[in-house]
Amino acid sequence: MKSYFITGGTTGIGWELARLYLEEGHRVAVCGRNLEKLPNGVKEKYSQLMTYQLSVTDELALDLAIKDFAKDGLDVVVANAGISHGSKDRWPDREASKAIINTNIVGTINAFFPALEIFKEKRKGQIVAIASVAGFVGLPGASAYSASKGALIHLCESYALDLPNWGIDVTTICPGFIDTPLTKKNDHSMPFLMSCEKGAQKIKKAIDKKKVLYVFPWQMALVMHLLRRLPRFLYRRIMKLPMADYSNK
Ligand SMILES: NC(=O)c1ccc[n+]([C@@H]2O[C@H](COP(=O)([O-])OP(=O)(O)OC[C@H]3O[C@@H](n4cnc5c(N)ncnc54)[C@H](OP(=O)(O)O)[C@@H]3O)[C@@H](O)[C@H]2O)c1
Repeated sequence: MKSYFITGGTTGIGWELARLYLEEGHRVAVCGRNLEKLPNGVKEKYSQLMTYQLSVTDELALDLAIKDFAKDGLDVVVANAGISHGSKDRWPDREASKAIINTNIVGTINAFFPALEIFKEKRKGQIVAIASVAGFVGLPGASAYSASKGALIHLCESYALDLPNWGIDVTTICPGFIDTPLTKKNDHSMPFLMSCEKGAQKIKKAIDKKKVLYVFPWQMALVMHLLRRLPRFLYRRIMKLPMADYSNK
């Protein structure tokens, strides 16, 4: 039996991943700002589930929660909590941009550091960031989200070079579109959209195998691979093509 702490585990990918580990008999903690989002009856169904009501932007609260859960063991921390723009408005929103950067990047660092203290001592453990394919390029209408996920990809690329020296494994997951409450808000097309159950299964497999980087589905991985390698003037030309003129909005 292993112990998993998953941030943002009240809905979507986080909860589905938590459920898969709970079904296998592992200890799991989830945190979120709104625990009432959890499916009804899960606390009764899974006695080994622990829940913490907090925001990942609250460094102290998250620190205390992870250390509380770790009293009975901690093997893997999954920094999954994240928010996005929803709409693809071209004009960036100041407050939304700050909230995205704060939750997605600072929230991940807030989750990793209490775990790293524990793992360094044990010389064993795994940290996992749920980034996104959106982190490989600057996507139109998703400036802060692309920036936040790009930062996680780079952060963990460095960690994956550094932390194995202390016995710590680092995994970065970059999903394409997955059907969750987050993507339900999207007002644009979502190619290769995958069910949350299937997405969580793929993520779990990559975590269990301790993959350093896992990008899926393969079609999206291929598209992003190509877009990232294009000369930037060509990338700008292609990405502007299907877009309407929003300049007067
Ligand atoms: N769905 C996709 O297509 C997709 C693709 C690539 C990457 N991702 C990434 O996967 C992760 C999960 O996304 P999802 O699609 O499952 O979204 P979701 O259904 O909206 O779930 C997001 C989870 O994060 C929690 N959360 C948000 N802000 C938080 C905060 N400040 N503190 C604590 N918890 C917070 C939410 O719980 P509360 O509201 O209770 O706080 C919720 O449990 C995100 O990092 C997202 O960027 C998603």
